[in-house]
Amino acid sequence: MSQAPKEQPSCPGKQESRREFLKQSSALMALALTPPLVVKAGENDEAIAGAFEKIPVNLDINGKAYHLSVEPRVTLLDLLREQLALTGTKKGCDHGQCGACTVHINGQRINSCLTLAVMQEGKKITTIEGLAQGDTLHPMQEAFIKHDGFQCGYCTPGQIMSAVACIREGHAGSPEEIREFMSGNICRCGAYDNIVDAVMEVKKGGYTV
Ligand code: FES
Ligand code: FES
Repeated sequence: MSQAPKEQPSCPGKQESRREFLKQSSALMALALTPPLVVKAGENDEAIAGAFEKIPVNLDINGKAYHLSVEPRVTLLDLLREQLALTGTKKGCDHGQCGACTVHINGQRINSCLTLAVMQEGKKITTIEGLAQGDTLHPMQEAFIKHDGFQCGYCTPGQIMSAVACIREGHAGSPEEIREFMSGNICRCGAYDNIVDAVMEVKKGGYTV
């Protein structure tokens, strides 16, 4: 009668060196798969710092010339609010979905959270702070006050900038058209009817906006 083969006793020394070998090969593999920039950064933090080097940018904001140094990752919205303290422009969603951050670039409305500041070199930016002429409010600001176009007021700067652009673009011919072309501006207080009334009044008044 043949006997079942005995299990070979494992050799502890052998297992240890095998584990060591696997550990070393995975470390080498991880190193090989790591992007070169990260490897370099690990060697020298200067490499990471260099990746965020500031870039010079010249902007005309509300009629004033600015010569700035800006990190390439900074949005126009953050530049306005955090670097220049122009906090009239609001940050709502920060994802292009609410319109609270609407400003004008070369006269055209844009969500400032969706564009990088360094992309605006040489451009003319207008924020809500730049609409009034000294103590004289812009007709759209007057109309918003007259028609109670705001409650909490958080969306209001963006609504006003968009409303001005809406008339300039020729998209304020009727309440329906105004609603359509202001639909990117969300008001959580639901002041929409009054906003439409304000825009209609400015449009009918034939004001220069
Ligand atoms: S903050 Fe820019 S669209 Fe909402
Ligand atoms: S007035 Fe409050 S969000 Fe529009």
